[in-house]
Amino acid sequence: MFDRRRHAQQLFAPLGPTYDRVGAVLSFGQDPCWRRFLVSRVPADGGLVLDVATGTGLVAELLVRAGHPVTGLDQSPEMLALARARFGDRVELIEASADALPFADASFDHLTVTYLLRYVDDPAAVLRELARVVRPGGTVAMLEFGLPRGLWRPLWELYVRVGLPLGGRIVSKGWGEAGNFLGPSIRGFWKRLPEPALLDLWRAAGIADVQARRLSAGGGIVVWGRKA
Ligand SMILES: C[S@@+](CC[C@H](N)C(=O)[O-])C[C@H]1O[C@@H](n2cnc3c(N)ncnc32)[C@H](O)[C@@H]1O
Repeated sequence: MFDRRRHAQQLFAPLGPTYDRVGAVLSFGQDPCWRRFLVSRVPADGGLVLDVATGTGLVAELLVRAGHPVTGLDQSPEMLALARARFGDRVELIEASADALPFADASFDHLTVTYLLRYVDDPAAVLRELARVVRPGGTVAMLEFGLPRGLWRPLWELYVRVGLPLGGRIVSKGWGEAGNFLGPSIRGFWKRLPEPALLDLWRAAGIADVQARRLSAGGGIVVWGRKA
């Protein structure tokens, strides 16, 4: 069986040093805006936030600026090394997998998670695990790539089939692989888990008042709710 977690480990290992800049360029400058919207869903109450799949710490940085103490968690030592260089001791960084969080129940006031669920084998179990570590009433907020609808869809298909693989290959071998992988990964995820089914998984994980907002013609989607 295809092991999504191990594949993610290999995929991200070489990307860290160029991740922030190349990610912004390949998303036409859109994903920094999506992260800002994600962070705006978290109440600005100074509560402790767990940022899962923190990578180089782009979401964690916005959370710190919004006045939150933050713990960042990622399974990739290479990505975390970049986060460590960014934050020093301003943010606690933990190397662990999202499917077995090394924290007691209700340890955090809020939780953010970015581009993770495509990389796990059991999204329902991971969502339950994420919700487990948030206190009742705390916010859980997620950013993921979406599938644009209508006229935007053929343009998106052209981009992920031609532009993204080519652009990635120009940057490096690692980005070439990421460029080839992203389109099928996004398409496959939403085929396995259409939006209504995903929102049902959130509710089944014990998250209430679940809402979703599609951004940039649906190229990004933010889902958020409150731990019941
Ligand atoms: C696209 S990056 C997102 C980084 C950052 N949050 C951002 O906003 O760009 C996805 C991250 O998920 C991490 N990841 C993938 N599977 C994981 C897992 N099972 N547990 C923890 N982190 C995981 C990868 O190592 C990678 O750093």
